[in-house]
Amino acid sequence: MKILITGSNGLLAQKIIFLALKESVNILATSKGVDRSSNFHQINYEYLSLDITNKDQVSSVINKFKPDVVFNTAAMTNVDLCEEMRHECDEINITAVGFLADACLQVNAHLIHFSTDFIFDGENGPYSEDDLPNPLSYYGLAKLKSEELLDYHEVKSSVLRTIILFGVGNNLSKNNIVLWAKEALESGKELNIIDDHYRAPTLAEDLAAASLFAAKEKVYGVFNVSGKDIMSIFELVVSVAEYFNLNSTLIARIHSSKLKQLAKRPIKTGFILDKAEKELNYHPHSFIESLEIIKNQLKNN
Ligand SMILES: NC(=O)c1ccc[n+]([C@@H]2O[C@H](COP(=O)([O-])OP(=O)(O)OC[C@H]3O[C@@H](n4cnc5c(N)ncnc54)[C@H](OP(=O)(O)O)[C@@H]3O)[C@@H](O)[C@H]2O)c1
Repeated sequence: MKILITGSNGLLAQKIIFLALKESVNILATSKGVDRSSNFHQINYEYLSLDITNKDQVSSVINKFKPDVVFNTAAMTNVDLCEEMRHECDEINITAVGFLADACLQVNAHLIHFSTDFIFDGENGPYSEDDLPNPLSYYGLAKLKSEELLDYHEVKSSVLRTIILFGVGNNLSKNNIVLWAKEALESGKELNIIDDHYRAPTLAEDLAAASLFAAKEKVYGVFNVSGKDIMSIFELVVSVAEYFNLNSTLIARIHSSKLKQLAKRPIKTGFILDKAEKELNYHPHSFIESLEIIKNQLKNN
């Protein structure tokens, strides 16, 4: 199998590549700028700089490599920035998905794309694939439009929606909540954490495994793929403190209205995982098991 992955400097991409390299696959990793992941030295791994908003570049790279599967993990993921920079958000999160879909159609490749719980309004979480989206933020709207674009496109595609990804990566351009909370508490910082928003945080390895399964077994369609434990953000951070024996008295509860964030966020998401369990053989770790995996990875780093 030949795999092309976009956004390879990001967390999810690094996990997909790590898993895929254990199989007999050829990987073309692509991201904006240089290869920062610097983890992979296998003969079947190659890196190329690719900005997915450049239509000609996308078409030429995909037509030359002729992948069987394209994983599109590249995205503008900062929700408040998307609210502010709507044009850039559209270009990366919607228009570029169209470029990838067109190129995949030309070489008959399977496009695996990633979306978010923020397509829902949070009034009735946890959500199944059949629930009606109603995004509150521009990021959520853009991701929903990218899903709809693939829905009407003739390309073979899978969309995996996920929630708060976390894990250990190499030279990531952004932190994730578990590592951020751990590092902040270790340095004795006092944290104000919202206790009125609920999520199902997702170990990046679990989502990577489901994505690879979709690629190998050619499973198409939309899937909700998150962790199995739904918790408030406050509970999440307290669990991190307790698991790593850090001082949880540094964590204060606040209401989300105190944060004055630009983008509106859903109150309670979480996913019903039945479809992913059945069709993607998805069996995620519990949140505590995931923390154990992270602890071991940090020990070996
Ligand atoms: N993270 C979450 O909590 C979360 C939740 C729900 C859904 N998702 C979705 O899951 C997917 C993967 O998320 P992630 O957390 O792994 O993302 P990430 O760590 O932010 O990785 C995205 C990567 O894409 C790269 N990129 C940005 N613009 C690009 C462009 N124009 N061309 C090529 N590469 C570009 C970024 O490069 P730089 O590193 O140089 O910036 C980054 O390395 C995304 O589709 C995201 O929307 C994520």
